[in-house]
This record gives sequence, C-alpha cells and structure tokens, in this order.
Amino acid sequence: MSLIELNNVSKFYGRDESRTVALESIQMKVEVGDFISIMGPSGSGKSTLLNILGCMDVPSVGEYLLKGRSLKGVDHKELSHIRNKVISFVFQHFALLKNYSVYENVELPLLNRKLSTKEKREKIFTQLEKLGINKLYKKHPTQLSGGQQQRVAIARALVSDAEIILADEPTGALDQKTGRELLELLSSINENERKTIIVVTHDDKVAQYTRRIISINDGRIAADVANTENPQDVFKNTSNL
Ligand SMILES: Nc1ncnc2c1ncn2[C@@H]1O[C@H](COP(=O)(O)OP(=O)(O)O)[C@@H](O)[C@H]1O
Ligand SMILES: [Mg+2]
Repeated sequence: MSLIELNNVSKFYGRDESRTVALESIQMKVEVGDFISIMGPSGSGKSTLLNILGCMDVPSVGEYLLKGRSLKGVDHKELSHIRNKVISFVFQHFALLKNYSVYENVELPLLNRKLSTKEKREKIFTQLEKLGINKLYKKHPTQLSGGQQQRVAIARALVSDAEIILADEPTGALDQKTGRELLELLSSINENERKTIIVVTHDDKVAQYTRRIISINDGRIAADVANTENPQDVFKNTSNL
C-alpha cells in the first residue's frame, strides 16, 4: 500500500470559457520515505498539485488515497484533522507569525494537543536544537536571517511528528549557500528520520538533491524518474544554486 495515491486526478478553476485546467489526469504514487521534487515551468500546476497532496485543496475529478483510505466525501473538519496530524508545510516565504517568538511559532502545531507545558517544551527544544537555533528561541522572525527563519519553519513542520513534509519553493527566498544548507538539512531529515518529503521547485539544482524527480507540464506528468545523481558532484564545479 502506498502512502499517497492519486488516481486520475484533475483540477479545474472557473467555469465555461474562463475555465482553467490546472491539473489533468494525474496518476501518482508516493511511498513512505520518498524524497521527491516536482518540477515544471511557472503555471504548470506545481502548487496546485502540492496543495492537493497536502489536503489543502480537493481534486475536481479523481481520487486521493491516504494510506489506502479514500478521502472522497471527507468533510472539512476531518480533512483539517488529518492534515494537522499527518502533513506539514514549509513555504517559500516561511509563513512565520511576526508577533510571535521563535518558540511560539514552533509551538503552534501543538496548541490543540493534550500535552503538558513541560512535554511541549521538550518537543520544541528537541527540534530547535536539531536545527541549531535553540539560542534564538526568544527572538522574533524579523530579528532573524532568511536561513534562520526557514529553519524555524522546518522546526515547526517537524514538531508535530507529521510523516509527510511538503515544501513549495523552500529555497526561493534564500541565497545560494543558505539554500544548499537547507537542502542538505532536508536530505538528512529524509534519511535519518524516514520522513517523506516532497519539494516543489523550478530549479534543477534543487531537484538534484532529491531522489525522484517528477516533471509536470501543462498540468500533466511529463516524466517521473529516479535520480541517482549525487548532489555533491553537481556542485563540485559550480557555485550556483
Ligand atoms: N485559485 C485559482 N484560480 C484560478 N486559476 C488558478 C488558481 N490557482 C492556480 N490557477 C491556475 O492554474 C494553473 C496552475 O497554477 P499553479 O499550480 O499555481 O502553477 P505553478 O505552481 O506551477 O506556477 C495556472 O494556469 C494558474 O493560473
Ligand atoms: Mg507555484
């Protein structure tokens, strides 16, 4: 049984003449521990696909199976419950709350969990330490660099113990070196913690860090290939990301 299975999924926006086909007949399986990049030009449907994979949006046509269970007809409340438990998002612009400290931002996914303050604190500091940002716990996002902010966003994604991490252009707002460090971090989280990670990117160098590259074009899957390239080799003779 696959972790996620999309059967013949299409997504339309608008009606009649103004109808846009954002995704068409997507057939796709995601296995536990996959590290996937979704590539394609702007407007090809990458974000739409990621939002559907993340249960932020529902297909117009077709079926979504999560661990073998169809999500057809599941109401909003239950969908958001599933999302909070199983799936975490990391966004290009980090999506941190400005008026909250680092600690409070990472705490957000735990707010409606039945945990004591001490248990929460332990979970939060475990993640902050893992990402090397524990000393920044009192700071606010505007006091941090882009790379530090993205680490806070990843700590927040990990603190809920979600099995699936979805990232939409996570390095898009970072400089090259910081972007590379972030991808190495995601690689190690994938390898060491068996998290399933799906990254949307339009950048081939970002995709080279992942182990499976799905290319989409005009809402259709154009290619789905295993990536055997070692990112270390890709970067040997280049400083670009
Ligand atoms: N909420 C929406 N309403 C109408 N059209 C949309 C909406 N979201 C995306 N689209 C359209 O769907 C297509 C795919 O968009 P998107 O998934 O954002 O592509 P990408 O992330 O690859 O740039 C585009 O033509 C876009 O204009
Ligand atoms: Mg997009």
